[in-house]
Amino acid sequence: MTWARMVPAIDRERLINDLNAISRIGLGEHGAVTRLAFSIKELRARQLLIHWMRQAGLKIHIDRIGNIFGRLNGANPKAPAVVAGSHLDTVIQGGKFDGAVGVIGALEAVRTIREKKVPLRSPVEVVCFVGEESSRFGFSTLGSSLVAGEVKIEDLANAVDAQGTKLEDILASMGIYRDNLASLKRDHSTVRAYLELHIEQGPILEAKNKKIGVVTSIAAPTRFKVVFTGQADHSGTTPMEMRKDALVAAAHLIEYVEEICREFSRMEKGRVVGTVGALKIEPGVINAIPGRTELSVDIRSITAEAKERVAHLVKEKAREIARQRDITVDVLPIREELPVALDDRLVLLLKRSCEEKGIPYEVMPSGAGHDAMQMANITRAAMIFVPSKRGISHSPLEWTDPEDICLGTELLLNTIVRVANEEV
Ligand code: GLV
Ligand code: MN
Ligand code: MN
Repeated sequence: MTWARMVPAIDRERLINDLNAISRIGLGEHGAVTRLAFSIKELRARQLLIHWMRQAGLKIHIDRIGNIFGRLNGANPKAPAVVAGSHLDTVIQGGKFDGAVGVIGALEAVRTIREKKVPLRSPVEVVCFVGEESSRFGFSTLGSSLVAGEVKIEDLANAVDAQGTKLEDILASMGIYRDNLASLKRDHSTVRAYLELHIEQGPILEAKNKKIGVVTSIAAPTRFKVVFTGQADHSGTTPMEMRKDALVAAAHLIEYVEEICREFSRMEKGRVVGTVGALKIEPGVINAIPGRTELSVDIRSITAEAKERVAHLVKEKAREIARQRDITVDVLPIREELPVALDDRLVLLLKRSCEEKGIPYEVMPSGAGHDAMQMANITRAAMIFVPSKRGISHSPLEWTDPEDICLGTELLLNTIVRVANEEV
């Protein structure tokens, strides 16, 4: 069975209109979108999705954390479901495509299946996962991690937002505690596959003039905080040689993260990227020597060994800097995840589908994290990328051509139909 015979056209105008409607929630200056996890804006986006799912005739299930599943049954309602989606939360001042394309694309695919009466054997579910972005708590893919049974108690210890709110308290307010973290885990026998459409968030597809990325693996992050504690003191009276400046220590470590990751980027095996994306300075005033700094470190690679090596070197360097400056250092783990391989047979199906349709595609790894890396723990998972203009993401400048979003959605639809009809 080929793509052309199986797949009716999606409603391109509805897809782009709905994406635009979602992006107006949390829209700020210069087109920046902010819908942090569990914020009112994220909730409103999820409410709009529920409304559309109802209109589309989907059976809705919302779990305790707020993950939304909209289900369309096939001929065999007891068969495991093909689940497709992504997330609607964003970073601070992000773009309108990261996450939303995968949720609204999956919704459009399922609407098309229902309206055009495309025969399905297995059920299909559209999913919106809560809190995929780590921007609020330093903890990524929260909703999908709970569904995959991948949240560990120790992961929560240092998950605190900028206002001091603990992720653990938010979870408790929803009835999720240390001893029932596993209760949201989905029985793997109820899921046939997980499919996620997403913007590439990098420059490869545009540079190679390809329309689709077929993702083979996802580089999962290792994250930790480094806290330097020196001595806050008067900036006018304290002689230079008597200072214990925690910010200068932090500056040396930030530079080292860049240096060591550049070194590893040049290696043939095990490209590693590393970022210090957040820094707290105390007391943080112009006339006091910084007494305490807290750095958030994010290290990623497709190769677990290379990532572990770099994380180890960065921690060692932090201790060395502290020793040299006679200050103290603490390393607080946030989360350590392993790179994930996506399903070979689904990769093959995606490649074949692109070839049938004459779509130029690239087989590639993902440098960004995604809900698919959690879902891959309980089912076969696959991802479809569409090009990002100039490779920019997590920025208001994020842009993907509507034509490419439509093409990606059509490929998603084609894949959902094929997997739900048990071709693979
Ligand atoms: C998700 O967007 C990530 O930080 O990789
Ligand atoms: Mn995303
Ligand atoms: Mn993101």
